[in-house]
Amino acid sequence: MKESINLLITGPLGHIGSRFIHAMNSNNRINKIVLIDNFSTLRYPSLFNLPANTHFKFIEGDILTFDFEEILKDIDVVLHLAAMTDAANSFEHEELVMKVNFEGTRRVAQACAKANVKMIFLSTTSVYGTQEEIVNEDCSLDQLNPQSPYAKTKLMAENFLVDLATRETGFKFTICRFGTIFGTSVGMRFHTAINKFIWQAVMDQPITVWKTALHQKRPYLSLSDAVRALFFIIEQNTFFNQIYNVVSLNISVNDIINEIKKYVPDTKIEFVESKIMNQLSYHVENKKFIDLGFTFTGALSEIEETVKLLKEANSSKNIQV
Ligand SMILES: NC(=O)c1ccc[n+]([C@@H]2O[C@H](COP(=O)([O-])OP(=O)(O)OC[C@H]3O[C@@H](n4cnc5c(N)ncnc54)[C@H](O)[C@@H]3O)[C@@H](O)[C@H]2O)c1
Repeated sequence: MKESINLLITGPLGHIGSRFIHAMNSNNRINKIVLIDNFSTLRYPSLFNLPANTHFKFIEGDILTFDFEEILKDIDVVLHLAAMTDAANSFEHEELVMKVNFEGTRRVAQACAKANVKMIFLSTTSVYGTQEEIVNEDCSLDQLNPQSPYAKTKLMAENFLVDLATRETGFKFTICRFGTIFGTSVGMRFHTAINKFIWQAVMDQPITVWKTALHQKRPYLSLSDAVRALFFIIEQNTFFNQIYNVVSLNISVNDIINEIKKYVPDTKIEFVESKIMNQLSYHVENKKFIDLGFTFTGALSEIEETVKLLKEANSSKNIQV
């Protein structure tokens, strides 16, 4: 690979992408970044005050219709983040989720294969949905049991990439099964477990926990590890057509609530029903990614930053509504 790297990111304005693009500094080998987002989640502020040391080019575009051919001529790696990401709500929008997460990824992958451009695809540890206690990437396909349309479409997209690489032998990809993200970014969202719990606690709402979930372990990924992992893959050129679990820690909802209580001591819990709560506890191994040379350093204590960001939004406790 040549010295400086030209990158294209789909869905760069979201929770993960916005932290990544704002983390660019002069030590990175990435020289130019093309950003393509359709503003479906309206995160305009993610484009404000981007680091001046990198050449950015923003294009308002949709992965379902954008013609990638011309632009990929000058690109080394595509970081494909664009997706419909709200797993719990994906039951209500199955068709659209299938379109964006599967058809969209198929379009991006085919364009990469045609242009000889490497691709990073962000999948999810929700593809496991399994009843084994410890799971890793060697799980056979019939052991994977995604519980939501979101996770199903991610698994379908993974399979498409693997299959495409057997037909288009020049196609190089890395699939990352990310744990649920926690941590702050300018385009951050609050619909996934840890961030949502922090929001509820700080806003004096009870934390809504799925009835069966309090002591079940799940895989999580700090945003700092997530961004370091993406730089690692791009700069170390680790494109071996492999799938990696990218997970900082496996913890229970109870562990998360205990951490939140350090900052919001009067946090309350309310148990609720959910369509995706019939999974058992599981632990996702991250050894395969560590064996590539990556070190996970993310810790749950990073949630203090999220609490701090929100605290002033509910500092006037004597206003009754
Ligand atoms: N956040 C997590 O906990 C988590 C965990 C595992 C995997 N992932 C995956 O990582 C990726 C990024 O996640 P995120 O949390 O930053 O998501 P996000 O929802 O915060 O951001 C997604 C971005 O994609 C854009 N987008 C959506 N549809 C598009 C389309 N058709 N064309 C162009 N742009 C489009 C949105 O406008 C948004 O800016 C996703 O693929 C997600 O599935 C996220």
